[in-house]
Amino acid sequence: MGRAAIGPGSQYYLERLTLNIFLFDLIQFNSIRLDPIAGSWQFNDMLACIILVSWLALLWLYFLWSRRRYYKAAWQLPGPVGWPFIGMGLQMMNPQTFLQYMDGLSHKYKAPFISWMGTNCFLYVNDPQTVEQIFNSTHCTNKGDFYRFMSSAIGDGLFTSSSPRWQKHRRLINPAFGRQILCNFLPIFNAEADVLLEKLDVEGVQRGKSLEIYEILKKIVLEAACQTTMGKRMNFQHDGSKAIFEAYSGITEVCVKRMLSPWLYPELIYRWSRLFDRQQKVVGVLFGFVEQLLQPAVSVVGVEDSDANKQLEEEQHQHQHQHQRQQQQQRRIKSKSIFIEQVREHVERGQQMSWQDVRDEANVIIAATFETTSTALYFTILCLAMHPEYQEKLHDELCAELPEHGDISIEQLERLSYTEMAINESMRLFAPVPMVLRRAGQDLELRRDDGVYLIPSGTQIGIDIYNMQRDVRVWGPLARTYNPEAHFGPDAPTRHAFAFVPFTKGLRMCIGYRYALLLMKLLLAKIFRCYRISTAARLEQLLVKGNISLKLKEYPLCRVERR
Ligand code: HEM
Repeated sequence: MGRAAIGPGSQYYLERLTLNIFLFDLIQFNSIRLDPIAGSWQFNDMLACIILVSWLALLWLYFLWSRRRYYKAAWQLPGPVGWPFIGMGLQMMNPQTFLQYMDGLSHKYKAPFISWMGTNCFLYVNDPQTVEQIFNSTHCTNKGDFYRFMSSAIGDGLFTSSSPRWQKHRRLINPAFGRQILCNFLPIFNAEADVLLEKLDVEGVQRGKSLEIYEILKKIVLEAACQTTMGKRMNFQHDGSKAIFEAYSGITEVCVKRMLSPWLYPELIYRWSRLFDRQQKVVGVLFGFVEQLLQPAVSVVGVEDSDANKQLEEEQHQHQHQHQRQQQQQRRIKSKSIFIEQVREHVERGQQMSWQDVRDEANVIIAATFETTSTALYFTILCLAMHPEYQEKLHDELCAELPEHGDISIEQLERLSYTEMAINESMRLFAPVPMVLRRAGQDLELRRDDGVYLIPSGTQIGIDIYNMQRDVRVWGPLARTYNPEAHFGPDAPTRHAFAFVPFTKGLRMCIGYRYALLLMKLLLAKIFRCYRISTAARLEQLLVKGNISLKLKEYPLCRVERR
């Protein structure tokens, strides 16, 4: 440490000064306790205690002084204070009640308000005006501190990384999610939809069982994600690659468990825990899976191409070369569209990304698709199962726009406006990612109707998407009901542009939102065109759990009938 770092006026100066006084006094104290009249309290013992207490008090005052800007912000935007040292940690870290608890607080205090997570200053936001300022601020692009547990488990991919790494990777990866690329995924999505229908038919119709649809959907979505990211079919629906399915299911569970266990925050303690062993096992499976596919997938394309080349030569002799060339061209276009093929060029040409970066990004993209899209899809099906009147309207649209059988094209999907309303309404009521966390990288000026407030750099910011999207103050009296037309229909009142943000907005918006909407629309269209789904569950009985993605305490069963 240089001289400047410990000189007067430096952050450490006061601490070092008081530490020196304390050490000096300890030496004095020991020499006096060796006195023959040891055992009885003496003046010097008392003095030592007073100095010790004063030293601690001084340190405490210094701690408070160094955080004075946070206290000023908390005084201006008052919220619940909570307990010393843990703040609102206990309540906020209970996934069973956390979202309901925050909803209660947002009615008691005027949001945005400041509270405390441990000793961290925590700004809670749940109104569209403030959400807009946060999402559009260049000072708030980095994620909250909690996300570091995710990056230490699954790798530092787009979801968790900070600038400048995030900016560079986002720029390189963005083209991999363009419209044209997504169109190439339609054959995969159509094929997976057929596997889903077969499963629903065999299990739900022919065997007449009530189904836990969420599990089936998770496998379908993961299968699609593995194919479009890595170009590999896993056969999850028929219990193929079970370990990989379980690893993707388990990874967020491990991260959330660590987030909820403050004693496991220090890396040194965590490495001795059983949870760490579990994390290592899961991560080993995931990284092994992606790594094993990375290089071979690259060369598989090459092998396929050279195989095709040889074949082509042979068939040229048979005067069929024109047809073969077309086929080869198609295969190349197809392989180019999968994620690793898209980013492979960045590794090989520009050295802007390493293979490890690609591995991390591929893993995060598969996990992000799996967690969120299966959740959103499940809640849409459940909402439609609980509301047969809207399911009928959806079916009418599907009958009008789609043929009875066969694959669905992008043009047909784009015409399904009621299907889109049904999806949006379920993502409004059951935000698949209920809360996102950001960190103020620099001081931030927050504008409210009653003035401008300074949010100091380092403040953790929680954007409560779940409660904002079902707030009667934002969405009117029907806010807590499922009603696609009332909230997204052509005659629905205009809402604030940031009142509905399931994918967030701004610089850090979800990169896969088009992908997710396309996949969900296609699967829903295929299901509800041929089947009717019902359930005994009621909307008001569902108990949600706040997690990285929204969960239910219990998943109701659904019945499937052929139309
Ligand atoms: C219904 C489905 C989905 C929902 C609700 C959803 C929601 C979100 C949300 C809320 C974020 C956090 C953004 C923020 O902090 O501001 C996010 C980020 C992200 N999502 Fe999605 N997502 C979905 C599907 C997908 C899919 C299908 C993919 C990939 C194909 C994907 C990849 C990502 C990635 C890579 C990020 C990080 C983006 C960045 O920070 O630059 N998501 N998503």
